[in-house]
Amino acid sequence: MRARAAIALACLVVALGACQQRTADVDQRRIEAADSEPQNWLTHGRTYGEERFSPLDTINTDNASQLGLAWSYELRAPRAAEATPIVVDGVMYVTSAWSMVYALNAATGEELWVYDPEVPRERGASACCDVGNRGVAVWRGRVYVATIDGRLIALDARDGSVAWESVTVDQTKPYTITGAPRVANGLVFIGNGGAEYGVRGYVSAYDARNGSLRWRFYTTPNPRGVDNAASDAVREAALATWNPDAGAWLESGGGGTAWDALVYDADQNVLWIGVGNGSPWNRDVRSPTIEGRNNDNLYLSSVVAVDATTGEYKCHYQETPGETWDYTATQPIILTRLTIEGQERQVLLHAPKNGFFYVIDRTDCGLISAGSIATQTWATGVDMETGRPIENPDARYAVNTSIVLPSPFGAHNWHPMSMSPETGLVYIPVQEIAQDYAQDSEFVYRPGRWNTGTAHAALPDDRAARAAVRNSLKGFLLAWDPVNQREAWRVELPGAWNGGTLATAGGLVFQGTVDGHFGAYNAETGERLWYVDNGAATLGGPVSYAVDGEQYVATLASYGSVFFLAAGFAAPREGDNLNGRVNVYKIGGTATLPPRDFVRAETPEPPVIRASAQVLAHGTTVYGQFCNVCHGGGVVSGGALPDLRRSATLADADAWRATVHGGRTEAGMPDFTQWVSASDAEAIRVYVAREAQALYRQEQARR
Ligand code: HEC
Repeated sequence: MRARAAIALACLVVALGACQQRTADVDQRRIEAADSEPQNWLTHGRTYGEERFSPLDTINTDNASQLGLAWSYELRAPRAAEATPIVVDGVMYVTSAWSMVYALNAATGEELWVYDPEVPRERGASACCDVGNRGVAVWRGRVYVATIDGRLIALDARDGSVAWESVTVDQTKPYTITGAPRVANGLVFIGNGGAEYGVRGYVSAYDARNGSLRWRFYTTPNPRGVDNAASDAVREAALATWNPDAGAWLESGGGGTAWDALVYDADQNVLWIGVGNGSPWNRDVRSPTIEGRNNDNLYLSSVVAVDATTGEYKCHYQETPGETWDYTATQPIILTRLTIEGQERQVLLHAPKNGFFYVIDRTDCGLISAGSIATQTWATGVDMETGRPIENPDARYAVNTSIVLPSPFGAHNWHPMSMSPETGLVYIPVQEIAQDYAQDSEFVYRPGRWNTGTAHAALPDDRAARAAVRNSLKGFLLAWDPVNQREAWRVELPGAWNGGTLATAGGLVFQGTVDGHFGAYNAETGERLWYVDNGAATLGGPVSYAVDGEQYVATLASYGSVFFLAAGFAAPREGDNLNGRVNVYKIGGTATLPPRDFVRAETPEPPVIRASAQVLAHGTTVYGQFCNVCHGGGVVSGGALPDLRRSATLADADAWRATVHGGRTEAGMPDFTQWVSASDAEAIRVYVAREAQALYRQEQARR
C-alpha cells in the first residue's frame, strides 16, 4: 500500500488531475504480494496458489455469531450463480448466468456498471451444466470475462466498455465457457467445455493488451496431423495412448475440456491445467481397446503442467487412466508448500471427481500421496509404485450395469476448496452419490447433441423409491489433513451439491449449502458458529475483503447449476427461477433479504393421452436422451427451468411439437428438429403427461 500512496502523492505534486490512478490496476507484482493487501481479493483464489485463505481476522471465532447481512444485490439473471467475486480497492467484480459482468461498490452494493455480452440464448442448448459463469480476472485496469458462446472479452474496469473481444472457439461446435480466466505476465489463460456434446479440449493464452492468441495447448491429440500449436510436441506421445483407427473420438475430438482449474504457478512459471473427461464418457465407444496397446487416453482426467509463457508441455499426472465415468480432473487446484517427512516440498493439492485426494510434486508431477475422501467403488486405492488406481474390474460396466461411486457429479466438483496455513487443513465440499452405468447399445454419435455412450436407468416411478434415492445422497464439509492424508473432522450437510469454502485467519471456514444456507465453522474443530438462510442455493466460492477497515464476507445465491437442472428431484428445497443475488455479510449487519413470496401455482389438470405401453416406454427413453439434462430426471424440475408436468403446452399436441421443433430457441430451449421426430415428441408428451397425472393426483389428495 505504501508504494501506491507514494504514486498518488507524486501525481498530486507533478500535475494535479493529469495522473489519475487506474481502476483495478492489478499486475503481477500485486498478485504475487497479495498477502500485503489482505483487504483485496485480486484473483480467482485470492493468490496465484488459489488457497482461498483470507488473512483478515476481524471476523473471528469470538464474534462470528454476530454476523448479519450488510447488503444484497439482485443479479439480472436467474439460473446458476457460480462465481467467485473479485474485489479490488473497494470495487467488486462478479458475474451471473449468461456471462454478465457487474461492478459493485463493495461496501454498499451500489451498482457501478453492468455488462451484458448478449449471448444468443440458443447457446444454452450446448451447455451441459447450465449457463453459469465462475467469474472474471482483473489486470491493469481491465476486467476479463469468458462467455458461454466462447468469447474472451476485455472490459475497461472504469465503465465496463469493451476494449477487445476474441472468439476462442469454433462457434459452429458445441463449445461453451463457464470458467474464470486467469492472468499472469500479461497473458490471459482460458479453456472451454462441451465434452458431453463432442468437442476437443484446449487451453489458450491471449495477449492481455490486444487479445491476440499467443499459444494453444490441446489436451487430446489430433489423429489427422499437427495443429501448429504448442501441444504438437507431445502429439505422438499422446496418440500412443488412443486407438488411432477407431472410436467416436475420431469425430468428437475426445473431450478433455479444461473448463475450470487453470492455476498459475509463480514458482515454476507454469500453468497447471485440470483436464476434463472423455468424449464420449464410455471408453469402449470412445477409443476401443486394442489388445496389447495402451488405452489411457492422454491427457484426459490429468493435471498437466505447461510453460506459462510458451505453452510447452512440462509434465503430467493422470488421475483416472482410461477415463470412462466422467471423472474430470478440472476441479479446483491449490498450489502450496508442505513439509513432508521433514522436507519442504512444492506441492499441488487436488480433489477431483474420482474421490481421491492427491498431493503431487510441482517440480516433476510425481505423486507424493493419495488418500480417499469419499466412498469409492470404482477403485480401492492408488498403487504408489505405478501411481495408477487399483480398479474394481466390474466398475467398467463392460457387460453388466454397474452401480458406481462417485457419480458424474463427482465426490467433489467445481465448488472450490480452501486451505488454512494456520490449521494446515484443506476444507472440501464432499458428496456421495451413486450412479448406474451401462453400455448404450443404441449409441450413435450425434454431432452437437448429448453423446456419452452410456445408458442409465430412468428414475423409478414410485414415490418411496424416489425418496430412497434422494435420501441416499450425502454431502458433508470435510476438513482434510493433506500431509497425513487423514480426516480431521466433518460436518454432515443437508443433501449433496453444497457450496465452495473459504478459510480465514479469524479461525473460520465459511460455506454455503444446496438448501440455501450459509454458515461459519470453527476451522480447528468444525463447530458451527453461525448459520443463516441465504435465500437460495449457495454454491460458489465465498470471499472475504475489507473496505475502510470493515471486513465483509460475500456469497452468491441462486437456483440453477447442473444439479437443479438434471437432478431436480434430489434438491432438498424447491427452487424457482428468481434472479440470483450477491449477499454480503459483516459483523452487526442489519439488512434483510427481500421476502421470498414465491408460491407454486397449482398443477393444471393434465391431459389423458391414450397410448400403448411401447409408446410410453419409447417416450421415457427419448426424454432421457434429450430432455433429462435440463428438465430433470423423472420430469421433476429443480425450479430453474420449467417443470414440464405443469406446462400449459402439455395439453396441446401441436404446440408441444412446435416447441420441440424450434419454438423457443430465443429462451434457451434447443431446437430438436434434427433429432426428435414428430412421433418421438408425441411419445415424450405421453410420458410427461403420465408423470403429470401422478403429480396432479398427489396434489389433489393433499388438498
Ligand atoms: C438445454 C436445456 C434444455 C433441453 C435439453 C430441453 N429444454 Fe425444453 N426448455 C428449456 C428452456 C430454457 C425452456 C424455457 C423457455 C422459456 O422460458 O420460454 C424450455 C421450455 C420447454 C417447454 C415449454 C414449457 C412451458 O413453459 O410451457 C417445453 C414443452 C419443453 N421445453 C420441452 C422440452 C422437451 C420435450 C425436451 C427434450 C426433447 C426439452 N424441452 C429439452 C431448456 C431445455
